Amino acid sequence: MTTSNPAPILDVSKIRADFPVLHQKVNGKPLVYMDTGATSQKPQSVIDALVRYYTEDNSNVHRGVHTLSQRATEEYDTARSKTRQFLNAASDQEIIFVKGTTDGINLVAHSYGRQHLGPGDEIIISTMEHHSNIIPWQVLCQEKAAHLRIIPINDAGELLIDEYERLLTPRTKLVSITHVSNVLGTINPIEQIVEMAHSRGVPVLVDGAQAAPHMAVDVQKLGCDFYVFSGHKLYGPTGIGVLYGKFDLLEAMPPYQLGSDMIKSVTFESTIYNDLPYKFEAGTPHIAGVIGLGAAIDYVSDIGMDCIDTYEHGLLEYGMECLSSIGGVQIIGTASEKSAILSFVMDGIHPHDIGTILDTEGIAIRTGHHCAQPLMDRFGVPATARASLAFYNTREEIDVLVKGIDRVLEVFS
Ligand code: ALA
Repeated sequence: MTTSNPAPILDVSKIRADFPVLHQKVNGKPLVYMDTGATSQKPQSVIDALVRYYTEDNSNVHRGVHTLSQRATEEYDTARSKTRQFLNAASDQEIIFVKGTTDGINLVAHSYGRQHLGPGDEIIISTMEHHSNIIPWQVLCQEKAAHLRIIPINDAGELLIDEYERLLTPRTKLVSITHVSNVLGTINPIEQIVEMAHSRGVPVLVDGAQAAPHMAVDVQKLGCDFYVFSGHKLYGPTGIGVLYGKFDLLEAMPPYQLGSDMIKSVTFESTIYNDLPYKFEAGTPHIAGVIGLGAAIDYVSDIGMDCIDTYEHGLLEYGMECLSSIGGVQIIGTASEKSAILSFVMDGIHPHDIGTILDTEGIAIRTGHHCAQPLMDRFGVPATARASLAFYNTREEIDVLVKGIDRVLEVFS
């Protein structure tokens, strides 16, 4: 396949210069990093923000009158405001810092779920959920004698909306759905899903782990009640994530973890909990992580999420065209609304072998079940090979991937 670049919407070589890790050889070949779905690489500005915090401002937040603590608190609180703007939430109080998407979903399952679910009630998820958006609800349902209902998908990897409609009943207490599938790349119609749930008084949680790094997210426009994402997939540090929740819902929920910072006053008899968002942030938070996340949000906001989305969509189209023209390669996930994730299987070749051979060519992809085993079952495969792209990838790198796949075919011929 020849590479004919359309007019670039962003300056990729300038962007690539911001990511030090990309400039290395792996197994003697220039690194082609296509595993952003697992974790993204970090721009120098995020690395600098972490180093600066630890070198100049390291201190605990919301506790000290001393200058360092005030500086750290200021940076921490500023990052919350940046996150609020990034999601277009109505207030900083609706932004809870958590460890990551998994932690955020567990918080809602534990706090909101335990409060609202009873015997015979139902929670709706979909076939394409990550284990993190299955297990917390599965266990909650088991505890409460409630039931998990699953929206089926078609062979392209799109939700069957009519089936979803049928699953919404007076017993439904929550819908928890991914915005973008980490395996298929499918972008789900969240506004429609939310509207259908809300018309029956059912709240919706959206797992935004694979969406927030790749497209503009406006929680007020989506209308969702909860939105969760991870910092490390958004070019920020690991161990930090965000739970957005509508104020009234969060306000009515009991705390998830108990300890310092989440209280106003404590006696041996009782405790008065702190206001939002602190009620859900027990213990010393991941201060450096929050500051690093703030720097990551600055970085992508400067480029522009719409710009990132458009550029990555161009990469996706090129990648789909290239991969679908290789004999013996089957793409898993061909939804019409799709993010830049290319999952594929090859006739008679295990995905782990594909990944291992590509690694010898310097190409990093993920292979396996991608923490979505029920989805693998739906497609009748034990695993896939997955190239997940970002705005630092190029068409030339997709050409390298294609050559790598040709090499896999050669080895197995
Ligand atoms: N959930 C991450 C992925 O899809 C780890 O790879």
